[in-house]
Amino acid sequence: MTERRPFIAGNWKMFKTIREAVETAGALVGHVSDAAGVDIMIAPNFTALAAVREVLQGSAVMLGGQNLHWAPEGAFTGETSAGMLQDAGCRYVIVGHSERRQYFGETDETVNKKIRAALECGLAPILCVGETEKEREAKKTFSVLDKQIQNGLKDLRSADVGPMVIAYEPVWAIGTGKTASREQAQEVHRFLRSLMESIFGNDLASAIRIQYGGSVKPNNIKALMEMPDVDGALVGGASLDAATFSQILHFQS
Ligand code: PGA
Repeated sequence: MTERRPFIAGNWKMFKTIREAVETAGALVGHVSDAAGVDIMIAPNFTALAAVREVLQGSAVMLGGQNLHWAPEGAFTGETSAGMLQDAGCRYVIVGHSERRQYFGETDETVNKKIRAALECGLAPILCVGETEKEREAKKTFSVLDKQIQNGLKDLRSADVGPMVIAYEPVWAIGTGKTASREQAQEVHRFLRSLMESIFGNDLASAIRIQYGGSVKPNNIKALMEMPDVDGALVGGASLDAATFSQILHFQS
């Protein structure tokens, strides 16, 4: 089996002024100098990217964007392109977060365009997928995820999607304090990996990292990470505090 390096990312959403972001990033760098063996990323608000980049210089913490537009540039008021994110120091970008799907009209079609734009620019997308509580109760979890993956990655080839990461984020677990049990997470991660295998082949499927997201905290990360197909986490609320996020990053110790 391919060895997959754990990847834990913090999504700061619409929180923190520039000063607060710089302070938290600075504290985090201090905490993680010894977090060997884990890839670490934070996605601050756009306004804080440049300042946070300076703080992260020379550290193991990578920078990510929370969203992007698919066009390289143009008259798209309020939008940010993949090239602009890369210029600001981002290596990753979160695509299709459920909050964007829910409140900002993101669809599998726009997700597909964004994934392409990111990959073409050399930015690694973190594709978020997940079912709502209603869909889970109606036993539609797998069909919802199948559709999100098939349509979100439509017409892409395995050679293109190599750097991509998938984040399984059950919508009912985001910001609610309800975490999927590790068995529930594993079941879905396994499903997602076999789906990726059916589309892109075994090499890609066994190498791709699948993060779990939804109320990840210091007290549940270890159990989740013990599951064979859970390769990391996308952390919202618990990533806003450097000490708490650092505990998550040090799940192995
Ligand atoms: P949460 O958010 O950790 O606050 O549940 C996760 C996310 O939205 O990525």
